[in-house]
Amino acid sequence: MNLFTSKEFNSLEDLFLDQIEDLYDAEKRLTEALPKMAEAAQNPELKSAFQTHLRETEDQVRRLERIFTLIGKSPTRETCAAMKGLISEGSDMVNATGDPNVKDAALIAAAQRVEHYEIAGYGTARTFAQHLGYNNVADELQKTLDEEGNANKILTEVAESYVNVKAQHAHA
Ligand SMILES: [Fe+2]
Ligand SMILES: [Fe+2]
Repeated sequence: MNLFTSKEFNSLEDLFLDQIEDLYDAEKRLTEALPKMAEAAQNPELKSAFQTHLRETEDQVRRLERIFTLIGKSPTRETCAAMKGLISEGSDMVNATGDPNVKDAALIAAAQRVEHYEIAGYGTARTFAQHLGYNNVADELQKTLDEEGNANKILTEVAESYVNVKAQHAHA
């Protein structure tokens, strides 16, 4: 979208395509951001969670490309302003100095915002696909939705183990 055009939605198909183009842009941006998050993480579990989710994210980009093909469109990016903002906050955490454990918690806080945003986006897109009768597409979107939910769960587990370690130190 730029200053001289506005979105035009005449059908749910139009809106669905817009949503997929937005997700495609968001995932492409994430494939550039996640390596920096992995590098910045100190905790090996967190580093490995970011690396694993980078590989999943690369698969998700290819999955979206298959979805474009399934609906007879070519892969197109629609700038995702929200993901740009979330990644910008993530890069503030990547560049932060101070206690590395607290910095890990900051990276998790930024990453979980990303996962929740993706869960919202894919949940909506999956439901639109179901309404449109695009059953294969809905199945593909559900796979990504499950991966995003799992990534979020792993981040919660790492965050909780980090809090537990801190609590043990406090009692020592
Ligand atoms: Fe993703
Ligand atoms: Fe994700």
